[in-house]
Amino acid sequence: MGQNSLTITDNRTGKTYELPIEHGAIRAADLRAIKTDPDDFGLMSYDPAFMNTASCSSRITMIDGDKGILLYRGYPVEQLAERANFLEVAYLLIYGELPTTTQLAQWIHEITHHTMIHENVKKFIDGFHYDAHPMGILVSTVAALSTFYPDARQVNDAKSRELQIRRLIAKMPTLAAFAYRHRMGLPYAYPDNDLSYCGNFLNMLFRMSESKYAPNPILERALDVLFILHADHEQNCSTSAMRTAGSSQTDPYSAVAAATAALYGPLHGGANEAVLHMLREIGSTNRIPDYIKRVKAGELKLMGFGHRVYKNYDPRAKIIKKVADSVFEVTGRSDLLDIALELERIALQDDYFIGRKLYPNVDFYSGIIYEAMGFPISMFTVLFAIPRTAGWLAQWLELVNDAEQKIARPRQIYLGPARRDFVAITERG
Ligand code: SDX
Repeated sequence: MGQNSLTITDNRTGKTYELPIEHGAIRAADLRAIKTDPDDFGLMSYDPAFMNTASCSSRITMIDGDKGILLYRGYPVEQLAERANFLEVAYLLIYGELPTTTQLAQWIHEITHHTMIHENVKKFIDGFHYDAHPMGILVSTVAALSTFYPDARQVNDAKSRELQIRRLIAKMPTLAAFAYRHRMGLPYAYPDNDLSYCGNFLNMLFRMSESKYAPNPILERALDVLFILHADHEQNCSTSAMRTAGSSQTDPYSAVAAATAALYGPLHGGANEAVLHMLREIGSTNRIPDYIKRVKAGELKLMGFGHRVYKNYDPRAKIIKKVADSVFEVTGRSDLLDIALELERIALQDDYFIGRKLYPNVDFYSGIIYEAMGFPISMFTVLFAIPRTAGWLAQWLELVNDAEQKIARPRQIYLGPARRDFVAITERG
């Protein structure tokens, strides 16, 4: 095999260029040397939606889309879901190694003691309509936190970064739970520091008149596993939003707000909510063939199916199917599960889906579990944003510490009108 380089001949000039190949990629900036004359700007690469562009180098998460493999800092997500807890995985993503017993205890203590939010934040939440979408409340209130922690703007101060990371991981569940309580017309339930991260989240959501909420351990563990599975996923849409916003050196609260807004979309984190609406619309297994026909006619997308990277079964979907069994033992089996299982069975045998390598992704089964656990559909994407905050922050920290990175400012191919003079309104046709 030849040396690690690409030889390009520009047929416009007959010149050849040698471009080095590193880690399976060429540097797009190297294309600028390819010019037709000295005044030429040089070549760019054109890649709408970044289908084949690496925006950064990273050591956090690796996906092998063809093999359906997902590694967090080299550890298979299956092993972490089986043997770790979410805060342990959050530490791994952010610091690169699994914590020792002492490190984990300190990490849990610090996060547990940052779960409270400023009382004034409640006034923002109270200002929303009762039926405001919780994601709209979450985007707004996490951005508002930047005004309570102006020290977060010191993004080049390592100690400040560490503090904001702990505050954000700790406070996202509180903001989420308060948004839920507002929607339900219930008083806010404050954090209980005696409980685990997920146990306390369930406490802030579902505590009623009891003085001490006791989370169901099976549901607490199920949520912990679901949080592990949703923690990070390479340079997905919302992580790219986090990195782009972070590249301007804005504070991490504002960057997380940008990422949360990107996650909100139905093609991304909003898909788990869209799956439930789809399953409810289908209504019964005998109506699946008609629905599949509409999907194949291009009228609709099969929500919870397909992925930009996975061209095999999303490994997270496999684990979530197992979590469903443990949850349904407590909550009773969801009537939607049969529709989902039959939809998957039919789709996986149909050439339309096979040919496009469309398999269930992380969102296909998660919503069924969340609904069985008592969450309203509007909370599903919020349940995605909470754990993904650890991944967004790990990626943000890597960006801040990456000497190669600077403010993100892509180029464009301009196809608009050439220079022309203003036309007075009386002369416009
Ligand atoms: C997440 O990036 C990540 O890592 C995201 C995520 C994470 O953890 O951060 O994994 C979380 O966002 C999972 C994806 C959740 N979204 C959905 O379930 C929505 C439904 N899925 C699709 O919208 C779609 O599959 C995407 C957005 C997920 C991926 O879209 P791509 O890579 O841009 O693929 P595409 O739209 O170019 O599709 C290729 C072909 C097209 O058909 P043709 O035009 O070639 O005939 O496949 C078809 C698409 O129409 N297709 C689907 C489909 N997804 C793709 N057809 C029907 N149903 C679908 N779901």
